[in-house]
Amino acid sequence: MSDTRIKPRERDAILQSLRAGVVPRTGQHHVQVGRMREVESLLRDLDRIADGGSTARFVIGDYGSGKTFFLHLVRAAALKKRLVTMHADLAPDRRLHATGGQARGLYAELARNTSTSTKPDGGALSAVVERFVTQAMTTARERGVDPEVVIRERLADLSELVGGYDFAEVVAAYWRGHDTGNEQLKSDAVRWLRGEFSTRTEARAALGVRTIVDDANVYDQLKLMSRFVRLAGFSGLLVCLDEMVNLYKLTSARARAANYEQILRILNDSLQGVSGHVGFLFGGTPEFLMDTRRGLYSYEALQSRLAENSFAVNGLVDHSGPVLRLTNLTQEDFYVLLTKLRHVHASGDPANYLVPDEALHAFMRHCSERVGDAYFRTPRTTIKEFLNLLSVLEQNPGQQWEPLVGAVRVEAEHNPDLAPLEPEEDDELATFRL
Ligand SMILES: Nc1ncnc2c1ncn2[C@@H]1O[C@H](COP(=O)(O)OP(=O)(O)OP(=O)(O)O)[C@@H](O)[C@H]1O
Ligand SMILES: [Mg+2]
Repeated sequence: MSDTRIKPRERDAILQSLRAGVVPRTGQHHVQVGRMREVESLLRDLDRIADGGSTARFVIGDYGSGKTFFLHLVRAAALKKRLVTMHADLAPDRRLHATGGQARGLYAELARNTSTSTKPDGGALSAVVERFVTQAMTTARERGVDPEVVIRERLADLSELVGGYDFAEVVAAYWRGHDTGNEQLKSDAVRWLRGEFSTRTEARAALGVRTIVDDANVYDQLKLMSRFVRLAGFSGLLVCLDEMVNLYKLTSARARAANYEQILRILNDSLQGVSGHVGFLFGGTPEFLMDTRRGLYSYEALQSRLAENSFAVNGLVDHSGPVLRLTNLTQEDFYVLLTKLRHVHASGDPANYLVPDEALHAFMRHCSERVGDAYFRTPRTTIKEFLNLLSVLEQNPGQQWEPLVGAVRVEAEHNPDLAPLEPEEDDELATFRL
């Protein structure tokens, strides 16, 4: 175990998240265990994105098995490789396709969570635009031409894509705002790029463009964004979409199909290598993928493309297909995880460890008796309880660990997503009723 010190702010952030049952946003590497092969294959994806390829991966794992953690890990690696990342959880009001604003809602959330290595916690979209402008200005100075010339030249690259003309106009408007000190124009341009205009009239008045980011063009917009981040000097774009089970939960078959169609477009583009410098990561549970009534498998074209390698069974793996199954953490992984939690809690200084190895074993034995294998396969509550234990020991010097371990209360977690769904709304009937 390394004794590299951990900064107090990072330590507190990690512990606070884990104690709240959520995945830490930064510093995951301090607690990460297992999943080496999965991480490796995703790192190769990131290189492919930087080299101009496009990728789509479905990170599939049981409830509480570590999907979100894994997505954050890959996101952190992407930032290190100079990619821009966008991430969002799907929700009833955040989908890939919709007619009532929910897809624009998803886009706006992705835009808010735009990150770069210098702004890893989101809010980086305006910095990306600013960087595009300053780079163009530098080039213009070197060539002895008007910056507008360089900007127009570069933006021409976007116009071949769907919606590219207006996207380019909006960035040009940002530049005019920059050039003339018109802050309003700059902020309107950024608002447009963030998908925050809700009507075309408004957008036209503010920026002179006819379109806005809307429910039907979210994927096109993301493709434009991936092209644009390249023009701003980044290596590409990684889009992380978590909680995909929300699509499976849509009651209308038609709404599900419309969303799955968008996923098919993304997957086809990646399999055919058409759109470059962009990667998609989808996090979802097995039923989201495999349920033949409501999951991705209910959509024929997706099922055939996502069917897993039939040779990869009985412990054999294939991490080259679009579906990446997260194997469960093992007991050994969990032991290493406890040592890491102890290490982080002690700010990286072994002299400050609050419990000996023996206590880790006792803790695991206790949890195993209580909830069986669940304690390491779905470790959210066990992690929480272990940190609670350390916290009590820290605040009550002289307290022995032995009696506390015996008193730890853990229960097996239940997957709320498996609660019965509302009965299927029959689209045809709904239409007749109108
Ligand atoms: N590889 C790992 N190394 C260390 N800790 C991990 C790892 N994977 C998951 N964890 C921890 O396990 C807990 C559950 O992980 P996570 O929240 O990512 O699961 P999930 O699959 O996204 O769950 P849900 O189905 O509820 O969305 C979290 O506390 C997380 O920090
Ligand atoms: Mg999750």
